[in-house]
Amino acid sequence: MNNNYYISTPIYYPSAKPHMGHAYSSIIADFFARFKRIQGYDVFFLTGTDEHGQKIQRAAEKKGVDPRSFCDEISKTFRNLSKLLNLSNNDFIRTTEERHRKSVDNLWKILEAKNEIYLSKYSGWYSVSDEAFYSEDEIETIDNKKLSKNSGSPVEWIEEESFFFKLSKWQEPLLKFYAENPKFILPESRKNEVISFVKSGLKDLSVSRKSFTWGIKVPSNNDHVIYVWLDALTNYLSALNYPDTNDPNYKKYWPADLHLIGKDILRFHAVYWPAFLLAANIQPPKRVYGHGWILSGEEKMSKSKGNILDPIEIINSYGLDPLRYYLIKEVSFGNDGNISKDKLENCINSDLANNYGNLCQRVTAFIEKNLNSSIPKDYEFNKDDNNILDVYKKNYKSLINYVDGQDINNYVNFIQEQLFSANKYFNDQEPWKKKGDIKRLGTILYVSLELIRKISILLYPIIPSTSLKVLKTFNINEKDISIKDIQNHEILKKNTNINKISVLFKKIEKND
Ligand code: ME8
Ligand code: MG
Repeated sequence: MNNNYYISTPIYYPSAKPHMGHAYSSIIADFFARFKRIQGYDVFFLTGTDEHGQKIQRAAEKKGVDPRSFCDEISKTFRNLSKLLNLSNNDFIRTTEERHRKSVDNLWKILEAKNEIYLSKYSGWYSVSDEAFYSEDEIETIDNKKLSKNSGSPVEWIEEESFFFKLSKWQEPLLKFYAENPKFILPESRKNEVISFVKSGLKDLSVSRKSFTWGIKVPSNNDHVIYVWLDALTNYLSALNYPDTNDPNYKKYWPADLHLIGKDILRFHAVYWPAFLLAANIQPPKRVYGHGWILSGEEKMSKSKGNILDPIEIINSYGLDPLRYYLIKEVSFGNDGNISKDKLENCINSDLANNYGNLCQRVTAFIEKNLNSSIPKDYEFNKDDNNILDVYKKNYKSLINYVDGQDINNYVNFIQEQLFSANKYFNDQEPWKKKGDIKRLGTILYVSLELIRKISILLYPIIPSTSLKVLKTFNINEKDISIKDIQNHEILKKNTNINKISVLFKKIEKND
């Protein structure tokens, strides 16, 4: 059985500092990476920055610095953000690295050798902000300005000599590929959009630019730089040391299991990328998931709109795990979501402080006081105890399927339900009234601890550092966390010491 799993985020443009949308994609990808690791997979999780092209060149010019030092500086802020977000990425790729240039150069040569590329002239609309070519029917005029209907970003007319990739020839093979791999594009609604776009007819794609220089040169013609999307998409291969197809990482991890992206860049990943790969005779990735947007009011949060919520500020005031939990739980995955400080605060107070933090604290404080801080040794499960403990075993397969189907909402719902029922169990059993019945008291507390252990394992991919804090009091270290262990319930060693868990999340005072 293949035990490897390769997941990526988009590589972000270092044209301005990162915002909540970038943090969102990265946190979601980290959720999957961590889950697959505790499921026993050998995971490769990649993120990075996309540094070439006209957008970056112009941004650097505006600042009056050369593009390379411009990128060095902002790429660092993205790298720092990955640390701040506690991402478990295995690599951070920059497209200005030599390993990447070699990879792109090679892919181009293959495409040229296979006669998939020809020289001609492009005249049409281009959005520098999206780094995308648009046809006449994809643009509209508002206030005398030509804008992309898709993204609303301004387009400009360009006319220049350009190399073209024979995309039109891949229309039918792509449709066949989608049909044979019905889960290649998710969510389903987006898949249908892509398929109708492809069915409406693919034109050959301009894959080089001549009017600026910031990019990887076309090997056979140094007047041209390679189109930044062909360059950028190749990062998923260059991080595995492609073209060295004997490289252990390439062998282990390609084809990628999941490119997690926002819906804004679905066309590049679900149409152009598999077409380039099919043309080069390389296996396409297994799945592309286009999630929705984090909105600010009604609009997409974006650098160019200037309506960003700064993840660093939020982390400084509320902490990282609350932000991670909130983004994963609150945004219905796949759809757009509006986020606000108010909703974040409610989420911290109810889910994290009340339901999880308080449960951990109450149970362990009770044990400290009444059982001298030791895990009960006398217990015997009755029907109710078995029922509440067995829920995890019963739902184990579904939980795995939720994650493998990127159904984050159902995964989180399950945790919320279990938090609710664990709290209810502790209240209903009234251990404070059972002090005379040492076996029943021991059982209630043992069950409660086991529920905390199971829930903490499930929470690990979402709020890793808090979950670890709790699991460590049970003597479970990060490398020992295994999702399989939610199925069993006599994992905790009786008669060993357990420290009281302190406040995990501070409640936020609200005025209303
Ligand atoms: O497109 N809500 O980079 P980019 C949710 N370099 N996610 C958002 C978001 C929002 N408001 N704003 C951005 C590029 N994102 C290319 C990618 S990949 C080979 C090259 C996230 O800096 C989301 O994942 O514009 C989106 O697809 C990505 O950031 C775009 O980042
Ligand atoms: Mg963008």
